[in-house]
Amino acid sequence: MSRTSDIPGLTDYLTRLAGQDDTLARVNRETGELPHGGMQSRPDQGALLTILAKTVGTRTAVEVGTFTGYGAICIARGLADGGRLTCFEYDPEYAEIARGNLDSAGVGDRTTIVVGPAIEGLATFTEEIDFAYVDADKPGYPGYYDALLPKLRSGGMMVLDNTLLGGRVIEAGDDRTRTMAELNTRIANDPAVDSVLIGLADGMTIVRKR
Ligand SMILES: C[S@@+](CC[C@H](N)C(=O)[O-])C[C@H]1O[C@@H](n2cnc3c(N)ncnc32)[C@H](O)[C@@H]1O
Repeated sequence: MSRTSDIPGLTDYLTRLAGQDDTLARVNRETGELPHGGMQSRPDQGALLTILAKTVGTRTAVEVGTFTGYGAICIARGLADGGRLTCFEYDPEYAEIARGNLDSAGVGDRTTIVVGPAIEGLATFTEEIDFAYVDADKPGYPGYYDALLPKLRSGGMMVLDNTLLGGRVIEAGDDRTRTMAELNTRIANDPAVDSVLIGLADGMTIVRKR
């Protein structure tokens, strides 16, 4: 049985088709050279975030875990006129890089970066959310899901990255993978949402609130 993840050159092929402009290509290249560069969202994921944010008609967006801003740029580019994105990022150095990248992408004026633990920032975020992207510390995902869902409007969308944890969720042998596997099961059975876990990159779960 063939698996697409085994196809040599597939990631490069998908990147070439993802339609990055010069700014996104630069952010992708420069971030890829950082010690933890592998954390950034892939170009095909970014293109999907833009499409989904546009589809929902996003006026209020939230990103949990921003790193150097690749996904944030993609979400901001999917905002409706007058829309705003609030990014929650723990690390002040990453937040500073993200700020520069968002500005150079031309979306700095519609983006706020809140530095600190996302769960604390979300607790004081009172706006109704149209679109949320969860991409921070993985053990925190259940808390982010529970904090975001009540704030998400009906018809709004939440996207969670890395929900396959490299495939380890299938075995769920340690606490970290068990936590993610339990959340995946909970979301799949949550009567408040429609959802699908797609095998893009390291797994992206797309949730639409009913
Ligand atoms: C996978 S990276 C995010 C990638 C980014 N979304 C992108 O599109 O390239 C995870 C980020 O979450 C941040 N992070 C980790 N724990 C966090 C927390 N408790 N609160 C907020 N951000 C956190 C990390 O500093 C890191 O920048």
